[in-house]
Amino acid sequence: MRKVTKAIFPVAGLGTRFLPATKSIPKEIMTLVDRPLIQYAIDEARAAGITEFIFVTSRGKSALEDYFDHAPELESALRAKGKDKLLEVLETTNMDSGAIAYIRQHKPLGLGHAVWCAQRLIGNEPFAVILPDDVISAEKPCLAQMVEAHEETGGNIVAAMEVPPEKASAYGVLDIAEDMGSLVSVKGMVEKPKADEAPSNLAVIGRYILTPRVMRQLDRANAGAGGEIQLTDAIAAQIGSGQGVYGFRFRGQRFDCGSKAGFLQATVAFGLSRDDLRDEFGQYLQDMMALRKAAE
Ligand code: G1P
Repeated sequence: MRKVTKAIFPVAGLGTRFLPATKSIPKEIMTLVDRPLIQYAIDEARAAGITEFIFVTSRGKSALEDYFDHAPELESALRAKGKDKLLEVLETTNMDSGAIAYIRQHKPLGLGHAVWCAQRLIGNEPFAVILPDDVISAEKPCLAQMVEAHEETGGNIVAAMEVPPEKASAYGVLDIAEDMGSLVSVKGMVEKPKADEAPSNLAVIGRYILTPRVMRQLDRANAGAGGEIQLTDAIAAQIGSGQGVYGFRFRGQRFDCGSKAGFLQATVAFGLSRDDLRDEFGQYLQDMMALRKAAE
């Protein structure tokens, strides 16, 4: 089986939920503690062995391209001041020449269409998709867990997580054929089901390892839920094709950084996980809670 070395990052969305911040900066550049969301996604991909990074962008996203470029003036200023630690931090943002590609999605036709835009760069290889809005904190990064599972199963694997039933309609939802614990074989997938039509409460989270056949499917895809071309539908069409479709219950905590509440929760969790911030920030949160209690 071919190793998964390519990942697609769909980053063309307008980020309207974060207006006015996203009027002039891409939402993927919004910062969790001190790193933009996209950096978390890239680090996770690297940890899973990804060496080719494909961004599907849109108008107004040039800050993303600059972010991954070298910054010679900044670097030499830091070097002159002997700020070696900061230089190391900057290095993690650099991409080797040729390792990164940008494709434009010219019209917002949906996640499936965004992924399809990268088809020529994917060719006939399995590939990963990472949605940077979904930030996952885990001892072993989520995509690396999935690559390991994929070595056993082949086929298509989507990250999955139980959500409260009343929230299922915000996700792609799995119809379970066989529940094997961390792996689940899937007999159906529904994108954004109506409240009473969700086949389970096992939801798709934004990490995928897919076969190139999904691209062929997207070639002839029609609009699905919300009038958009859905990745979920193209994956669901692989069921019964001889290549498996699996859900994977990853170990870790997922934050929905596409929502304000989720972003704030992630900020608190990542802030508290940092050695350099834990004491001061933790104390502040405790004081805030005490004040709130006293006011009640
Ligand atoms: C996308 C996918 C959906 C998945 C979700 C996870 O939806 O279409 O299947 O459950 O990401 O975050 P979106 O959140 O872009 O509407």
